[in-house]
Amino acid sequence: MPIQIRQVRPSDLPARERIFSGAFSAGLRPHIYPNGMSEADLVHSFGETLNGLKNKMSTSDSQAGQRAFVAFDTDTPADPSDFVFPEAWEHKAETELSEEEKKNAKKVVGLAIWALQPSARTQKQIDKEAAEEGPHNHAPGANGALVDAMDAAMTVSKKKHIGLEPYLYLKVLAIDPAYQRRGVGSLLLDHGLAIADRCGIQAYLEATKAGRPLYARYGFEDREYMDFDVVKYAPAAKDDPPHEFMVMVRPAGAKKINTKA
Ligand SMILES: CC(C)(COP(=O)(O)OP(=O)(O)OC[C@H]1O[C@@H](n2cnc3c(N)ncnc32)[C@H](O)[C@@H]1OP(=O)(O)O)[C@@H](O)C(=O)NCCC(=O)NCCS
Repeated sequence: MPIQIRQVRPSDLPARERIFSGAFSAGLRPHIYPNGMSEADLVHSFGETLNGLKNKMSTSDSQAGQRAFVAFDTDTPADPSDFVFPEAWEHKAETELSEEEKKNAKKVVGLAIWALQPSARTQKQIDKEAAEEGPHNHAPGANGALVDAMDAAMTVSKKKHIGLEPYLYLKVLAIDPAYQRRGVGSLLLDHGLAIADRCGIQAYLEATKAGRPLYARYGFEDREYMDFDVVKYAPAAKDDPPHEFMVMVRPAGAKKINTKA
């Protein structure tokens, strides 16, 4: 299972959804899409992601923006479902692979999305950027109240624990369930945290229960549970194991800790 990492491409949109729906099936995802993900939701999600890939990516360590990487299995052909776009998707020319590219494509098995803020900002700048970003554009079938409440809780935590300082933020780390606990998440973490180390900045994330031990081994320290009551916005979540998110900070230059020794 030789795993390699490359930047996310527009043709990865279906793989991204496949990985998210597998990795987060026991997480918040079923509550964000309480009726499942319709074709309209898929088109919306693809559109938002494509927009991000075109307009919000950071291309150097000195530029603020997103960095997104996939891990792929060089021994395994791409999952055929990763070539399937919704009927109503209007950007196929930008996102579909040629037959030759499909033949050579490898299976995407994990995804990491980071946000890089390489320099300190004033509160005024932060507020201005948030205002320019505007409110979340929800998919038609999404539980918008849940997404907005989670965004708000994340903003409060980030302000408290990062403040005005530069940071690298791990927005999402998700691994195909069939590939979990085989080192793929670690590879993606090594790859992303190298950016923080080159920039000499701290890293930040909100950990699920599944991710927390791994992050701790990478030098992330617990701060506090994010103040976010999922059940208030998704009553059906009352029957789940608690949805808790530990805010974790990895100080600049922190080293990997071998807690298994
Ligand atoms: C959390 C998650 C990203 C971790 O990814 P992963 O690929 O399973 O991570 P790794 O395999 O690198 O490491 C996971 C564990 O497996 C162990 N491991 C790694 N390679 C292994 C191998 N070959 N054999 C056995 N165990 C192995 C690691 O030591 C690690 O142990 P730890 O959790 O006690 O530290 C993944 O499980 C996932 O997608 N979960 C669902 C979504 C989620 O919660 N994402 C995190 C959001 S914050």
